[in-house]
Amino acid sequence: MALLDVRNLSVSIPTPDGDVHAVRSVDLQIERGQIHGVIGESGCGKTMTGMAALGLVPKGARIAADRFHFDGEDLRENARGLRGRRIGLISQDPAAALNPVLSIARQLDDVIRAHRDLPRSVRQAEATALLAATGLPDPEKVLKSYPHQLSGGMQQRVVIAQALATGSDFLIADEPTTALDVSVGAQVLALLRKLVNERGLTVLMITHDMDVIAEACDRATVLYAGRSVETGPVGAILRHPAHPYTRALLSALPDAAPHGARLAAIEGSIPPPRSAIVGCAFAPRCPQAMPVCSATAPPGSRRDTHHWLCHLPEDAA
Ligand SMILES: Nc1ncnc2c1ncn2[C@@H]1O[C@H](COP(=O)(O)OP(=O)(O)OP(=O)(O)O)[C@@H](O)[C@H]1O
Ligand code: SF4
Ligand SMILES: [Mg+2]
Repeated sequence: MALLDVRNLSVSIPTPDGDVHAVRSVDLQIERGQIHGVIGESGCGKTMTGMAALGLVPKGARIAADRFHFDGEDLRENARGLRGRRIGLISQDPAAALNPVLSIARQLDDVIRAHRDLPRSVRQAEATALLAATGLPDPEKVLKSYPHQLSGGMQQRVVIAQALATGSDFLIADEPTTALDVSVGAQVLALLRKLVNERGLTVLMITHDMDVIAEACDRATVLYAGRSVETGPVGAILRHPAHPYTRALLSALPDAAPHGARLAAIEGSIPPPRSAIVGCAFAPRCPQAMPVCSATAPPGSRRDTHHWLCHLPEDAA
């Protein structure tokens, strides 16, 4: 059974100008002990999908789904109860996740104390061990520091240690390396892989960056205009992409793209988030669009665990 099982998730946000369809129909099955990447252009609903799993959607937002379960529990009923107990967030900006006026020792101890009933000396040893587990070379010194005294990469490791301190076994990492130097970002990805291997963590990795998918993920889901359009093992997605949008994302990466390059622009833009979509949302930009594409929602195809939504015949995919 998938640890996170999401079927036909939608998130609509009411605004004075009409509803924003931030997520229209997302399917995600994330297996335990895997890093599952979610990729797509800006505005396609990556963050809102993660926020829905954390129970952090904007006020008034409506969540609907055929299934929205974490380890058998319905997230529509208990996302807040699971957040910070089973599900942790690693964001792009670690500085914002840390309190600037408290030492790391105090912040980490607050989290440990909130989750486990341990004497102070044991908590101190636990804080040191957690920082060591995230690869910080001098945990004692880090404990005495304040956030501004640490580099971005060190702050991100502290945020990961805090998530581990809660006992969370599922991390939603929203562009966790975007604000870091490429080499520091690669170290953070390697740390997440180590924690997956050694502690059985499961990670939802939100990214703009195909290199992150290639280097860090086991499976990937491609979102377009709030919809999951292709999902599969990373090897299949990179070497045999079936959906024209995935192919466009891959071919938009110049061969000589520097490591860590963001997605280059694909001609055209995503549909406005308030618009209704008939047929395939990618049709206005798709080099292979046919008349049926703008009229009828595309059917699903699959090869083993590789799935996609497109009107092209399977052998053309
Ligand atoms: N609080 C909000 N109110 C109204 N619209 C919102 C709100 N938050 C997000 N949106 C809209 O929902 C859509 C999806 O946003 P989301 O942040 O999930 O995209 P994303 O894929 O994470 O993009 P990025 O790559 O830029 O982070 C966008 O059109 C965005 O403008
Ligand atoms: S359904 Fe049609 S428009 Fe959409 S991706 Fe497939 S071929 Fe292109
Ligand atoms: Mg985002």
